[in-house]
Amino acid sequence: MDYNNLKVPAHVGIILDGNGRWAKEKGMNRTEGHKEGAKNLKILGKYILSKGVKVVSIYAFSSENFKRSKEEVTFLMNLFTAKFSEELNSFHDDNIKVVFSGRREKLSKKLLYVMDKLTEKTNHNTGGILNICLNYSARNEIIDMVKKINNDNIDNSMIDEKLISKYMYNELPDIDFLIRTSNEYRLSNFMLWQLSYAELYFCKTYFPDFNTDEFDNAILEYTKRDRRFGKIDYSK
Ligand code: IPE
Ligand code: IPE
Ligand code: MG
Repeated sequence: MDYNNLKVPAHVGIILDGNGRWAKEKGMNRTEGHKEGAKNLKILGKYILSKGVKVVSIYAFSSENFKRSKEEVTFLMNLFTAKFSEELNSFHDDNIKVVFSGRREKLSKKLLYVMDKLTEKTNHNTGGILNICLNYSARNEIIDMVKKINNDNIDNSMIDEKLISKYMYNELPDIDFLIRTSNEYRLSNFMLWQLSYAELYFCKTYFPDFNTDEFDNAILEYTKRDRRFGKIDYSK
């Protein structure tokens, strides 16, 4: 699709959901859905950044997801570890900067090692930012932000929106457009601060089937949205 006549959001958020149901409906194990979701994410993430979007934030694993079975959590952690090491060069070759948001606690040494490698290696890349939210909770991010501000002895007079954004896990612009797949209509503790004025888009497709055509459709919808930010255009 030609994006020249479309409005391109600077920051896209994706709550990738429905991997398990995708697999279940095909008579497969939930883990097959996660594998397929990971494959799709690689293609989709690169496509989105190639279309002029500056930042893509992906909800890959919530802090609440640790409540799932040990088998599923272990499978996902191993999948992340394998994918991040496999893709180390490909993200770098595509000039994509990878960052992570979330708490490091509960993540294995091996996973943290590949995450750090990916961040270090791609740190100076300029072709867009892929923010992977892993062991992420928006409320924890706010708690951690308050603690950091407190530790730095910041005076109250200095605290404004800009400073708070600086103290989040990564300093990123607000999310313009949020996509959630799989027919669920909630935020599930995702980037509450950054989403405050985002346009929301919910679709029925399960994430493994949310391909580049589906993303194009979402952007067509975004292009039609009238973002007012509280203002009124009296000339209309
Ligand atoms: C999203 O798919 C991936 C993660 C939350 C890790 P789900 O695993 O939530 O799939 P459903 O919602 O159960 O179908
Ligand atoms: C949200 O999906 C978390 C991620 C996409 C990683 P869930 O499937 O865990 O959310 P709930 O439980 O349906 O709210
Ligand atoms: Mg789900």
